[in-house]
Amino acid sequence: MDRLKAPARLMIVSDLDHTMVDHHDKENVSLLRFNSLWEASYCHDSLLVFSTGRSPTLYKELRKEKPLLTPDITIMSVGTEITYGNDMVPDDGWVEVLNQKWDTNVVREESSKFPELKLQAETEQRAHKVSFYVEKDKAQAVTKALSEALKQRGLDVKIIYSGGIDLDILPQGAGKGQALAYLLQKFKTEGHPPVNTLVCGDSGNDAELFSIPEVYGVMVQNAQEELLQWHAENAKDNKRIIHATERCAGGIIQAIAHFGLGPT
Ligand code: GLC
Ligand code: MG
Repeated sequence: MDRLKAPARLMIVSDLDHTMVDHHDKENVSLLRFNSLWEASYCHDSLLVFSTGRSPTLYKELRKEKPLLTPDITIMSVGTEITYGNDMVPDDGWVEVLNQKWDTNVVREESSKFPELKLQAETEQRAHKVSFYVEKDKAQAVTKALSEALKQRGLDVKIIYSGGIDLDILPQGAGKGQALAYLLQKFKTEGHPPVNTLVCGDSGNDAELFSIPEVYGVMVQNAQEELLQWHAENAKDNKRIIHATERCAGGIIQAIAHFGLGPT
């Protein structure tokens, strides 16, 4: 845990599915390359943060399937659960922030009125995250109507569409970006902000990561349309964000070199 007390030379905040992990690569070539690079040149003075949409249950399953490193910090359930270290000690301060203008039962009740929404597995329904599947052509209209209905009920929520299929409803203060902002603020207050931060993603729930001031960002080559569109509309002139020409972890390695974040 000592590395959580000194300024990290590089803090990498990476999504897992289709970003760190290439589900089309049975041999895990680029993931294993990233792991070697991290262990040889970064892990002694840098921080590895995984930020996934997966619940703790599905995150643990992925760890069994793929040769993932153990990160210093794990952010799960689309930025609603933050844990530290190998023991995955939860950040209770973060949970408190999320209780504002949020009521899971009301969200479940209102969303059940939309037949287009198909509830995801129970493991993916969390204290501050309610998740559905919805077809691409229906996503926008549902998002709009549901936001309105929840506002009427006094809640302040954020609805995120990812991978052209997943729809997550979270408290307004939640999300991958807000979770990262919380960590950066915490490290700053404790007197050890990271020297450089690189965020890595491929889909809609990663977009917020790229809007945190001063971070470098890589959208991997195989990024989803909704992320590329968000970038075109919101960040196209930001030189600190690149769209890699390599898939998944290969794109992360490419960004490290591109931004000169390599070992000195
Ligand atoms: C992961 C989660 C799912 C969520 C999706 C997008 O796949 O398991 O619940 O909807 O990420 O955030
Ligand atoms: Mg992803």
